[in-house]
Amino acid sequence: MAEGGVRSEPVVLADLDMLLAIETAVYPFPWSRGNFVDSLHAGYLARKHLDAAGRWFGYCIAMPGVQELHLLNLTVAPEHQHRGHGRAMLDELVRRGAALGAQRLWLEVRVSNERAQALYRRYGFREVGQRRGYYPAGAAGRENAIVMSLPIGAHAEPQP
Ligand SMILES: CC(C)(COP(=O)(O)OP(=O)(O)OC[C@H]1O[C@@H](n2cnc3c(N)ncnc32)[C@H](O)[C@@H]1OP(=O)(O)O)[C@@H](O)C(=O)NCCC(=O)NCCS
Repeated sequence: MAEGGVRSEPVVLADLDMLLAIETAVYPFPWSRGNFVDSLHAGYLARKHLDAAGRWFGYCIAMPGVQELHLLNLTVAPEHQHRGHGRAMLDELVRRGAALGAQRLWLEVRVSNERAQALYRRYGFREVGQRRGYYPAGAAGRENAIVMSLPIGAHAEPQP
């Protein structure tokens, strides 16, 4: 269960400095400012999550499709991880996706990112395949992505 008093708001262009500070602290291969700007201009679902004191602890970006939602970025700032925020952010994303008519939530996750995979599996996502060389990796190499999917909305099965 996440801490009380948390809320989410839409990400706007003026948030990008703050958002990029978290992004670059968390990922060895962070999204660029341009990636975020493009997502906002495209009208993707982009939510920042704040604690009771109004401090940012995370954000998520998802691309709506035909009866589906594709999670592109889910990030919790390092000092706020492991407090249930990730799960709570997924809860809200599922609610918003279902309200948009999505029946399935998709995501990719690095094969090396076992912590995120564990969260997604516990949440009810199932692995449906891999994308070879999907992510940049060290020494100009590439890393495979695991593709995961979760039924949501009217056709969702109860989550464990
Ligand atoms: C992956 C990520 C989003 C998960 O967010 P999180 O807020 O840390 O996730 P949660 O707290 O909901 O769950 C993580 C752990 O905290 C535990 N937890 C949940 N509530 C807790 C609480 N109140 N007290 C202590 N632990 C708690 C969960 O059981 C889980 O335990 P485990 O990792 O040992 O199995 C976050 O770690 C992150 O931003 N990582 C870097 C970026 C990343 O990898 N993003 C995903 C890309 S696909």
